[in-house]
Amino acid sequence: MFRLAHLSDVHLGAVPEMRLRDYASKRIVGYTNWRRNRKGAMTSETLDRLVADLRAHEPDHIAVTGDLTNIARREEFENARLWLEALGPPDRVTAIPGNHDSYVPRAHHRYRKLWAPWMVSDDSEHIGKALFPFMRRKGHVALIGVSSAVASAPFMATGHVGERQTERVAALLCQARDEGLFRVILIHHPPKLIDPNSAWRKLTDGKRFRRAVETFGAELILHGHEHIRMMTAIQGADGIVPVVGVPAGSGPALGGPRAGGYALHEIAEKGACYDLTVIHRGYAESGEIVETARVSYSVNRPS
Ligand SMILES: [Fe+2]
Ligand SMILES: [Fe+2]
Repeated sequence: MFRLAHLSDVHLGAVPEMRLRDYASKRIVGYTNWRRNRKGAMTSETLDRLVADLRAHEPDHIAVTGDLTNIARREEFENARLWLEALGPPDRVTAIPGNHDSYVPRAHHRYRKLWAPWMVSDDSEHIGKALFPFMRRKGHVALIGVSSAVASAPFMATGHVGERQTERVAALLCQARDEGLFRVILIHHPPKLIDPNSAWRKLTDGKRFRRAVETFGAELILHGHEHIRMMTAIQGADGIVPVVGVPAGSGPALGGPRAGGYALHEIAEKGACYDLTVIHRGYAESGEIVETARVSYSVNRPS
């Protein structure tokens, strides 16, 4: 059995004081929002306790699906690198970026450089380079890391995968299927928006991305971005593809689906199928970390 932990949207604190020139960029919106809404709720203490709980379950691997920062300042990327180092070595932790990590144009240079060890493909042709999509093989599991992180206009939090990246994702899905691997896609934005009033935070080319999954299949999709526990599905070529979103890792220590939380995915080979158990853990109203949801799936092996 392979146990994959999934944490997202840690929005690490310690946002440095704004520099004068930042007031002229989109960062002022994020900074004002963060100070107004998030500073109280998104504390590192709640995140630290969540990570301690996650570690106690001894996952084989940890996936972090983006939004490690708030307004993509250099100091935040450095802080996030230290946090990744503390979370685990690159062969035990895989990360992808979120829209906050691409909050302003050119921010991607910073995570590509500082977070590359946790974002590289294990294919020899890409060694040392954070390029998307990438694929990492862990036992019978293939982790396919996709970037939907793009700089968007002020007050927008959209994502975009792009045609070329989607074609490469399709190729990796086929390759991993041919290798008989359990294919897990990591993407920051949910492939499909649930709330039609949230178009300002959607994946703008979600339809094309979903079509690739419908055509070539996948066994599991993990996302963040919505800061709420979510379980949906896509009808893939080989059967239903569970789509699982976790709340913000630095979310508040309160009860409910928006409380800070993470998920554990237990993947076991069983004849012609895989048994997949999704376990959500997060803060209860009491402030304790408890199991908040559990769903089991029988997933067809890719053919
Ligand atoms: Fe987020
Ligand atoms: Fe996000």
